[in-house]
Amino acid sequence: MCKLSINVDHVATLRQARKAIYPDPVEAALLCELAGADGITIHLRGDRRHIQDRDLRFLRQEVKTSLNLEMAATDEMLKIAKEVKPDTVTLVPERPQELTTEGGLDLKANLDTLSKAIAELKNNGMKVSLFINPDEKSVEKSAELNADYIEINTDSYCESKDEDIHKTELEKVRKIAELAHKKGLGIHAGHGLNYKNAKDLMTIKEIEEVSIGHAIVARAVIVGMEKAVKEMIEIIKS
Ligand code: PXP
Repeated sequence: MCKLSINVDHVATLRQARKAIYPDPVEAALLCELAGADGITIHLRGDRRHIQDRDLRFLRQEVKTSLNLEMAATDEMLKIAKEVKPDTVTLVPERPQELTTEGGLDLKANLDTLSKAIAELKNNGMKVSLFINPDEKSVEKSAELNADYIEINTDSYCESKDEDIHKTELEKVRKIAELAHKKGLGIHAGHGLNYKNAKDLMTIKEIEEVSIGHAIVARAVIVGMEKAVKEMIEIIKS
């Protein structure tokens, strides 16, 4: 059954809007776990716009399911990951100007940096996932790089409003998931998933875990975290 890892970055975004001490993403993460989440994801950005170093360290102590750290493959982040040791590290591209992660990694252009980062993280006991666009070359390179997982970028699928394009994008993700499975990679998916579009994605049996942030935190503001998480679990696990 597909797992749900909840990204609590937006809770920190609200806190940082006032540079206050609340709401606390650590408290939010614990509520997510109580409501049945299988894991917690955070993105520690170089500019620290939402999640702070303190959040990561407390989450490492408190999260009882699985902690996934999204980060760029920089020396600074590698040092932090090796100290804190999240269960999984998802390597993502990062641009200071972007609102959120824009697209998957360019594996070919960053082969040396990624290869070194993957080896270092794995040697220090972490699993490594690569956030990639749904294309065959990226899957092949991910396998060559010895990643444990890929996280398929579902943005194009989620953005497709037209029914035919939606179906085409869904099949593209399915094909990539099947290929990655054949190559021995574990398969995660995420970005842009919500209460409407997650259901069709769940027809892809190879997807082991989805990472969802914005939709769940936004719904939690209205109905509370427990209800927001349970509603998503109902979609993903039914
Ligand atoms: N996966 C990755 C790699 C991301 O960068 C993000 C956003 O931080 C997500 C998943 C979650 O995306 P969303 O907030 O749209 O659910």
